[in-house]
Amino acid sequence: MSNDGASDVRATSGGGTRVLEAEEPRVQREHPHVSGALPDGEAEIELHGISKRFTTRTRDTLALTNIDLGIRKQEFVTLLGQSGCGKTTLLRILAGLIHPTEGEVTIAGRPLWRGDHRDDEALRKLGIVFQDAHLFPWFTVEDNIALPLKLRKVDKAERRRRSHELAELVGLQGFEKALPRELSGGMRQRVAIARALSYRPEILLMDEPFGALDAMTRDKMNMELQRIAEATSATVVFVTHSIAEAVFLADRVVLLSARPGRIRSITTVDARHPRSLDITAQTNFQEKVLELRRQLTEDEERIARQGGVSE
Ligand SMILES: Nc1ncnc2c1ncn2[C@@H]1O[C@H](COP(=O)(O)OP(=O)(O)O)[C@@H](O)[C@H]1O
Ligand SMILES: [Mg+2]
Repeated sequence: MSNDGASDVRATSGGGTRVLEAEEPRVQREHPHVSGALPDGEAEIELHGISKRFTTRTRDTLALTNIDLGIRKQEFVTLLGQSGCGKTTLLRILAGLIHPTEGEVTIAGRPLWRGDHRDDEALRKLGIVFQDAHLFPWFTVEDNIALPLKLRKVDKAERRRRSHELAELVGLQGFEKALPRELSGGMRQRVAIARALSYRPEILLMDEPFGALDAMTRDKMNMELQRIAEATSATVVFVTHSIAEAVFLADRVVLLSARPGRIRSITTVDARHPRSLDITAQTNFQEKVLELRRQLTEDEERIARQGGVSE
């Protein structure tokens, strides 16, 4: 993943030459700013003027720039974009795992950061699921699910009750005593989802959670996730690089453009949840997929013109 050829701006700092990966003025000329901000009072989560610059010894990467996005309570938002466009970075900023270089995140009206301190109240609303389930191999399903509760000092009987309830919710009843190695990839992700839900977060942040699954399991998990989101009334922010998955799940698809990541477009998908896979055969669905593909291809071509490679 190198974009050196695209750079004609160089900055000298700390005695070395650092490559500035993205040149902002040109980007802004090619794409006007797309704001995903919602009218006052409508958003549960707000990203305001977010940018993120990673500075290492040899390279300066502007991973995200000027992101304005509001997300409604119980909305299902997918973040779509090609590899390297900043999806994970944006999700990690939402999760309070990294600090934005500029801008502010608020959750239910509370700033996620006050200076260098994260707001615990805002953090408690969040549950996170990554592409890899990250289970403890020597813990049973039930203990993996209940781990966040154990860390929060919830007593054993309540942990057991809650992990059984969650195992049932994610379709793992009967597997409470199994070890992760006895489970399929889809089942391991179910454990990760149950674990993220263990302390009843209002917001579920998911980073390509089904990216490593085969197509059929992935379809099944997409159906299940809709049911789980509804049963828990959770707001979901779901990262994917699959256009079809993004449109199938979302109330709104936020397409990110690469280098630096910024909002390229926002597509509203009106069909009611839970949706069946049949909607993927509908013209309206297919038109949305095609239009998003066109936008992604256009972006790839822009990067190629600038002499970079897309991943
Ligand atoms: N910790 C980091 N340090 C330096 N650069 C990073 C770091 N994390 C991400 N990046 C860079 O930021 C850009 C966006 O990365 P990422 O958010 O992982 O993209 P995506 O999830 O869309 O594939 C990439 O160019 C990546 O190399
Ligand atoms: Mg990623």
